[in-house]
Amino acid sequence: MLNSAPSLGPAQRITIDFAERSYDILIGESLLSDPASYEGLKGHSALIVSNTTVAPLYAAHLKAALGTRHAQLFEVVLPDGEAYKTWETLNLIFDALLAHGCDRKTVIYALGGGVVGDMAGFAAASYMRGVPFVQLPTTLLAQVDSSVGGKTAINHPLGKNMIGAFYQPQRVLCDLSLLHTLPARELSAGLAEVIKYGPIFDTDFLAWLQTHIDDLRALQPQALAHAVERSCQIKAEVVGQDEREAGLRAILNFGHTFGHAIEAGLGFGTWLHGEAVGCGMVMAATLSQRLGFVSNSWVADLRALIARAGLPVVAPVLDAQDNAGRYLALMRLDKKSEAGDIKWVLIQTPGVAVVQSAPEALVREVIDACCKT
Ligand code: NAD
Ligand code: GLY
Repeated sequence: MLNSAPSLGPAQRITIDFAERSYDILIGESLLSDPASYEGLKGHSALIVSNTTVAPLYAAHLKAALGTRHAQLFEVVLPDGEAYKTWETLNLIFDALLAHGCDRKTVIYALGGGVVGDMAGFAAASYMRGVPFVQLPTTLLAQVDSSVGGKTAINHPLGKNMIGAFYQPQRVLCDLSLLHTLPARELSAGLAEVIKYGPIFDTDFLAWLQTHIDDLRALQPQALAHAVERSCQIKAEVVGQDEREAGLRAILNFGHTFGHAIEAGLGFGTWLHGEAVGCGMVMAATLSQRLGFVSNSWVADLRALIARAGLPVVAPVLDAQDNAGRYLALMRLDKKSEAGDIKWVLIQTPGVAVVQSAPEALVREVIDACCKT
């Protein structure tokens, strides 16, 4: 399974520049099982954090590749799913670290999708005020977005990713061979975060995606490698300029304000994060159009691409009595909101995003329009 795709040649390396905290993102095939991927990582002990789906598939490959690099190698296997991105699950990681006597040099390996990566990263940020960690993303979404840039978090029942920290990994290994076991629905969810980079940053990439979306859904190796590389390059460029989201980084949240409301409003795990972001991008693009920034036909093309990626483009009704009110209440909790004023990531012109307020009446119209087929 790990070596099934035709070889793409040597791994690509993208460096994310944070001075003394700089690190490499390696993108290629069979990186997980290659001992060379772990060169330079030290620590008497290490903890692999994974989940009940990914550990049986890949933990043995990781352990074999690590060999005797760490004198003691421990593992904690978390329950699988967004619904478990909670304090209770996070505490299982701390329980394991403490029970095994892990110290400040213990390396945490996050082996899984964005849920495992966000939780293991938050545990690494806070255990003994910070231990080294390595991201081993196993979903497309995690390879193109969540494993890169150091955002870590857990959910609160009232809001998505509300409790967390900025904390950079030592290394990110995007092993493309791992995506062959990913269910099609999860692959589509990852494509939402790939598509995101086009409207906000790179119209050439958006045009490339219009041509290659079917290749990506078919896991065509060259197309997949290009999509992951370009996504990571854009993310590295944006995050390298604005690690803590003082400004520019907020553009990476295109579609996320509506999307987070969908996730929280339906209950975490009902729609996948990527599905909510896909539909949220249709809503944010529609808001951009209503503000006079982009044309109807541009929004229609983006909507069609998102649909071709296998993602929902009609927003769910969250409240039969006051649907727009429910969306707005959830969105006021967004981390970009200031004193309840929601800040929207909008497309000013294709390839250029801005973050600004919008009239509530217009937002209500967009919600009404996007909840209808
Ligand atoms: P996920 O971690 O829940 O993984 C999706 C599903 O696929 C899970 O059931 C998982 O067990 C399974 N899986 C993972 N890898 C697999 C593989 N190779 N083969 C078979 N099954 C596999 O979801 P996700 O989409 O990876 O991540 C979503 C999370 O990422 C959300 O919580 C979101 O908030 C977060 N996120 C964080 C950032 C960030 O910057 N930190 C950015 C985007 C998203
Ligand atoms: N996924 C948004 C960010 O990393 O900022």
